[in-house]
Amino acid sequence: MPAIKLDGKALAATMRGEIAARVAARAAARKRAPGLAAVLVGDDKASQQYVKMKHETFTAAGCASVVHRLAADTTQAQLLDLVARLNADPAVHGILVQLPLPKHIDDSAILRAVSPAKDADCFHPENLGLLAAGFPRFYPCTPHGVVQLLLRNGVALAGKEVVIVGRSNIVGKPLALMLMQKPGTANPVAGDATVTVAHTRTTDLAAVCRRADVLIACAGRAAVVTPEHVKPGAAVVDVGTNFVGGKLTGDVHPAVADVAGWLSPVPGGVGPMTITMLLHNTLSAAEQLDGA
Ligand code: GUN
Repeated sequence: MPAIKLDGKALAATMRGEIAARVAARAAARKRAPGLAAVLVGDDKASQQYVKMKHETFTAAGCASVVHRLAADTTQAQLLDLVARLNADPAVHGILVQLPLPKHIDDSAILRAVSPAKDADCFHPENLGLLAAGFPRFYPCTPHGVVQLLLRNGVALAGKEVVIVGRSNIVGKPLALMLMQKPGTANPVAGDATVTVAHTRTTDLAAVCRRADVLIACAGRAAVVTPEHVKPGAAVVDVGTNFVGGKLTGDVHPAVADVAGWLSPVPGGVGPMTITMLLHNTLSAAEQLDGA
């Protein structure tokens, strides 16, 4: 039997509706609309598309959204100056600097300059430290989207074997923290699972992956997970966004659908959830900065 689809498009629509209702309640209470400032440097086509989708999602949910488009030869000092102005602007609750940045700019210097209270991506080391300590200010968007996609589709995590293939700062590493932690009032979205982090250098990756009740592919390599990596009936989440011959493909081979119990598609799986969690974080930042 083919795998049940983990439909991120449908779940994202439901969660955006829930967030829009909370934004409308704030407007009725005469509170400022949650505001996102997105910063796009240069003319990378994929980044332009992502920022456009974010802007449309925010305006549709009743949030404020301003996109700052800067030329590819913008200096690091100019970008730091813009970030400082956004940090000081009370109408801005969430700041997003779209990655990748041009090579002459030091990503980590820019990400560390964003006020941790407005760090809607949850990329700042202070926020990653709070997450690691079990007292998150925000959850990083893609990991949060993955966990919501599993929990809201009834995929059990507590006590289960989870294998993550990928160890990036944006997805694999923070996702491992979220999935291993114990849920509690300070940390409501936590998996309580047994987590293994594997990667493309792991010896006998297929054998390690076959231990998983829940397998998450976030290595950034097309079709790194094939049917031989999957225990029959396992839930498989595909975080990959690879362009092969101009076509968007995930990290999971399509034939996995014949072995897995659940599978997230690409596109229409994790992608829409990531943008929804950015919206969630910007509302949360507005509540923390201006009052709930
Ligand atoms: N580039 C690719 N994905 C992301 C993301 O989630 N946030 C930012 N800021 N840049 C990205």
